Amino acid sequence: MAKTKEWKCVKVDWDSDGITWVTFNRPEKRNAMSPQLHYDMEQVMLELETDPDCKVIVISGAGNSWSAGMDLKEYFRETDNNPQAQFRSFTSNRHWSWEMLINSRKPSIAMVNGYCFGGAFVPLCNCDIVVTAEDAIYGLSEVNWGIIPGGIVSKVIVDTMAYRDAQFYAMTGRTFDGKQAVQMKLANIAVPKEKLREETAKLARELMEKNPIVLAYTKQAVRAVRTMDVQNSYEYLMTKIQALRFMDKAGTRETGMREFLDKKTYKPGFQSVKAT
Ligand code: COA
Repeated sequence: MAKTKEWKCVKVDWDSDGITWVTFNRPEKRNAMSPQLHYDMEQVMLELETDPDCKVIVISGAGNSWSAGMDLKEYFRETDNNPQAQFRSFTSNRHWSWEMLINSRKPSIAMVNGYCFGGAFVPLCNCDIVVTAEDAIYGLSEVNWGIIPGGIVSKVIVDTMAYRDAQFYAMTGRTFDGKQAVQMKLANIAVPKEKLREETAKLARELMEKNPIVLAYTKQAVRAVRTMDVQNSYEYLMTKIQALRFMDKAGTRETGMREFLDKKTYKPGFQSVKAT
């Protein structure tokens, strides 16, 4: 992707070491997801997926909000009587925030800097890892304005949160903060807001020390077996192990074996092997 490329509702910044910072960029609307934001994200995700300079995708929001969910005016009300426009934006939303994120080979981190409501739970849950500001505010607010958590929200919350928490927050519409999100395992790490970017970058760099193809296979394996029974999980994982040996042209496994067993130069319990 041209590093200077501009988008209407999304901003993309590149770190020289491989972190790509993707920012929802409608701060005046608290980064509510309009059709245009979905079209931008669809293109951005497609381009990042095939750009070798992108090693980790970090998704954040401009201003004091990660995202206030779907844009109630542009995404819902303005498309209510326009089935074509509705189909187009609903499909785009599903494509990037569900299919593309979960099938991406690049590690993704949601860096939650502020409000996260309703439909924003879909990309939130479909990122691999979540780092949140301690004071970020989360809410499944749908019940408060007369709808259910649709657009796959109910599905991602029960897949990610404990059933009791998902049901409680969906039914009450109560908000919770970043620290509570970590207690509930909706987020991995909560940090003070002023440390958010630094801690996220540290985590991204840790991921970049791994062999990227091994990391891609690892995240896809963990995600895929969630919906499989034991027998299918075993078959799937055995097949993927073989596929990875073929796909990893750097021979990371063989290097690791040699360095640990023969040269005694490396401890796999503590560090990533550097394939040569
Ligand atoms: N859809 C459309 N517009 C939204 C929006 C949404 N989900 N969330 C915020 N906005 C707009 C507001 O209408 C307002 O627009 P205006 O300046 O043209 O009046 C602007 O963003 C700022 O919102 P405001 O409510 O004034 O900001 P705030 O900082 O006081 O409060 C929120 C922020 C996020 C708490 C509040 O806007 C809110 O509750 N939003 C709805 C969240 C929600 O229920 N989302 C679920 C959708 S699936």
